[in-house]
Amino acid sequence: MIFEAVRKLALPFAEIEKYVPQRGKILDVGCGHGIFSEMLAQKSPTREVLGIDPAINKIRLAQAHRAGLPNLKFKHAYLPEINSKFDCIIIIDVLYLLPIKKKVEILTNCKKLLKKNGILILKEVEKTGSLMFFITKLEEIIMVQLLKYTYSDKGNLYFVNTAYYLKLLRKLGFKKVKSRQIRAIIPYPHMLFVFRA
Ligand SMILES: C[S@@+](CC[C@H](N)C(=O)[O-])C[C@H]1O[C@@H](n2cnc3c(N)ncnc32)[C@H](O)[C@@H]1O
Repeated sequence: MIFEAVRKLALPFAEIEKYVPQRGKILDVGCGHGIFSEMLAQKSPTREVLGIDPAINKIRLAQAHRAGLPNLKFKHAYLPEINSKFDCIIIIDVLYLLPIKKKVEILTNCKKLLKKNGILILKEVEKTGSLMFFITKLEEIIMVQLLKYTYSDKGNLYFVNTAYYLKLLRKLGFKKVKSRQIRAIIPYPHMLFVFRA
């Protein structure tokens, strides 16, 4: 798929994968087509990976194209519909689609669903004054609002800066392991947050 190839050039998935535990239950929230969920399951058979997304078309594609690994499942669901505990929860490029109240709700939910000392991995595009941020925003306006290719409840974009996430995660009781910029071939301003519950 062309989309998948472009996504892999845009995002250093391998860099994020390093922070995911090698074993245990892993939840990928807003997994989209399941690119990262599949990578996690392929890299370690002792990971039990569940990818969820509210976009039924994406989940159907993920189920059709990424079936076969015994440690990988996809489900059409929002986070509040999930009620088991996880060793690691991943949210990649989802929160920019949600207003502040929803960001707080989803992260609060993650805290509840993580086991003690479980890992939260959050990746978002950093809101800055840079040209690259402007280009990213423009692309998202096209994908979310014009083409409606990326599903969003509200159809709006809610980028926030790094300081906002650091403050919110601490306020919700998460403990910082790492927060840093990561880079792919296409130089989007990616910000990675690794926190413990
Ligand atoms: C830019 S895509 C990222 C997909 C995937 N995480 C990746 O990195 O390739 C954003 C995803 O968030 C999903 N999404 C939108 N609203 C959501 C919500 N309220 N909760 C969870 N996922 C949501 C969309 O359906 C879409 O698949």
